Amino acid sequence: MSQSLLLVEQVYAGYVPGLDILQGASIEIHQGELVTLIGPNGAGKSTLLKAIFNLLPQRRGRIEFQGQETKDIPTHELVAKGMGYVPQLANVFPSLTVAENLSIGAAAVQGKIVKNRIEELTALFPILRERYSQRAGTLSGGERQLLAMARALMGQPQLLLLDEPSAALAPKLVGEVMHQIQQINHLGVTILLVEQNARQALKISHRGYVLENGRECYSGAGEELLHDPRIGELYLGIKAPLEANI
Ligand SMILES: Nc1ncnc2c1ncn2[C@@H]1O[C@H](COP(=O)(O)OP(=O)(O)O)[C@@H](O)[C@H]1O
Ligand SMILES: [Mg+2]
Repeated sequence: MSQSLLLVEQVYAGYVPGLDILQGASIEIHQGELVTLIGPNGAGKSTLLKAIFNLLPQRRGRIEFQGQETKDIPTHELVAKGMGYVPQLANVFPSLTVAENLSIGAAAVQGKIVKNRIEELTALFPILRERYSQRAGTLSGGERQLLAMARALMGQPQLLLLDEPSAALAPKLVGEVMHQIQQINHLGVTILLVEQNARQALKISHRGYVLENGRECYSGAGEELLHDPRIGELYLGIKAPLEANI
């Protein structure tokens, strides 16, 4: 039996006492997978990522990372164990340069390794090399997302949680960011991707989950969900019966 890298079982969590935003959310991710989580605004997608990263306490249920329950593991230790997280907003320090942002992402690694890591990541994202000494606040939206991902990758995570990396990007940049995400996955990083651009995200994903009202309502292989009429109508802007050109 292949052990899951991340296991979320019947998790309840919320911000206000007595009000659960996550209401029995369950997902499972295996080593090497790229998994997309879609769902309407307010469904609890960002909340689920925060609960996984222990930025929000679980009220009920169980989360395991690398086979170990995470309930009592503080966020910085989750990072040390190999979990990376790129939040939806405010994911770079605008007044610091690209180089400084990358160095901060490597707080847990030492001198020479930091340099090597920056070399590797700027090879992966050449635009960051061009912008190396520029303040992050002067980058375009797409460049900023790449920097945020590169920063999270500095710590060499085994699992990367990405919250809407294509939000607020011009449509032609969305494909580019998706391509980079797929490349990161091909390098061996397991990814949980939350996305509004459901079609593009599912196209690059092994599997997907649909979250509604704080729990997953269906899941399947990326291709399968792309052709599922329930998803088509709600998330891909396709009226049932499905048109063939997706
Ligand atoms: N910091 C917060 N305090 C209180 N409620 C919040 C907070 N963040 C999110 N919520 C609420 O939790 C629900 C789910 O939000 P969120 O997880 O951001 O949804 P999604 O990412 O799927 O759009 C929403 O009703 C939202 O208003
Ligand atoms: Mg969100």
